[in-house]
Amino acid sequence: MTGPYRKIVEVLNGQTVAPPPIWLMRQAGRYLPEYRETRAKAGSFLDLCYTPDFAVEVTLQPIRRYGFDAAILFSDILVIPDALKRNVRFVQGEGPQMDPIDVSGIGKLNGESVLDHLAPVIETVRRLRQELPEETALLGFCGAPWTVATYMIAGHGTPDQAPARLFGYRHIEAFEKLLSFLAEISAEYLIAQIDAGADAVQIFDSWAGVLGEREFEDFAVKPVARMIEIVRARRPQAKIIAFAKGAGLNLLHYRQKTKADAIGLDWSVPLSFAAELQKEGPIQGNLDPMRVVAGGKSLDEGVDAILDKLGHGPLIFNLGHGITPEADPENVTRLIRRVREART
Ligand code: CP3
Repeated sequence: MTGPYRKIVEVLNGQTVAPPPIWLMRQAGRYLPEYRETRAKAGSFLDLCYTPDFAVEVTLQPIRRYGFDAAILFSDILVIPDALKRNVRFVQGEGPQMDPIDVSGIGKLNGESVLDHLAPVIETVRRLRQELPEETALLGFCGAPWTVATYMIAGHGTPDQAPARLFGYRHIEAFEKLLSFLAEISAEYLIAQIDAGADAVQIFDSWAGVLGEREFEDFAVKPVARMIEIVRARRPQAKIIAFAKGAGLNLLHYRQKTKADAIGLDWSVPLSFAAELQKEGPIQGNLDPMRVVAGGKSLDEGVDAILDKLGHGPLIFNLGHGITPEADPENVTRLIRRVREART
């Protein structure tokens, strides 16, 4: 059975598509005036995530404006702790907050009503598939257990996730229990997104880069490998992108061990190393989001270098992390034109 032709799915199947398909992490967000308008109407950030009318609207905004090759479901990785009743709040100017969890709280976690709580998000996926152009891929996502756990332990963002690293040393048993619990419910959540029409899903391990060698294996690789194993056992055709930000040399074995179809690369990954990783399979990334803020020559040079070195193999063009609120929407137009008009 072959589905409709979607370039990103082609790349995830190992094909080289030239010019490469493009989407941007955080492509629906504060740099777009239309996002800020809908956001103001929705009230709180979580209301925006849980109201399908609003979530569908902001997901489609960057597709209408730019015609990206993929839409990414509008939601957040922290809807999982929210569904676990951790009292998640997004405080303007302060980032996310929730009640910090301790050893006894981990013992009491109950995943039974998680998918019920997330039903509006799944409804958003279903509606998006109906409303998107045929050729536009739809991406679902969730956070990796380690990254989600860092917020659950600290109760807020921190510069280096020291509270979660410390907790991992002091209470290894409870911590591994938390990670495997998150791996299992997140796998169920991804399966629900795939069943509702997501062509592929991305697992965000935004804080993989703060882990030591052994912790990277235990906290980043193993839980993500377990998630992918659960998803594949039930949905063998599932396409999965794993993004372990800051993983550096650890990326050498990351794809092999997690069995992700594609790996995401942050902007610190050297292009020569990226080319080595691409020999093993599809890659995604790795333009510095600050080049999109800078625009002009800095932007063009960054784009050209990636296309030059990586455009001849399976590549999904993207940034090395999310686009920031300061980015000028005109620079995104310039970026897309440069990618699409390139002769690779
Ligand atoms: O990429 C997309 O367009 C889809 C939507 C999406 C959001 N968050 C929307 C969002 C996705 C995929 C995420 C993932 C996410 N959320 C991650 C992993 C990727 C990454 O950026 O590292 C993480 C760590 C989070 C947690 C989170 N959510 C933080 C730390 C913050 C506050 C920082 C910030 O940028 O404001 C959020 C809020 C958030 N999530 C916003 C958006 C558009 C901004 C909130 C607002 O509009 O007020």
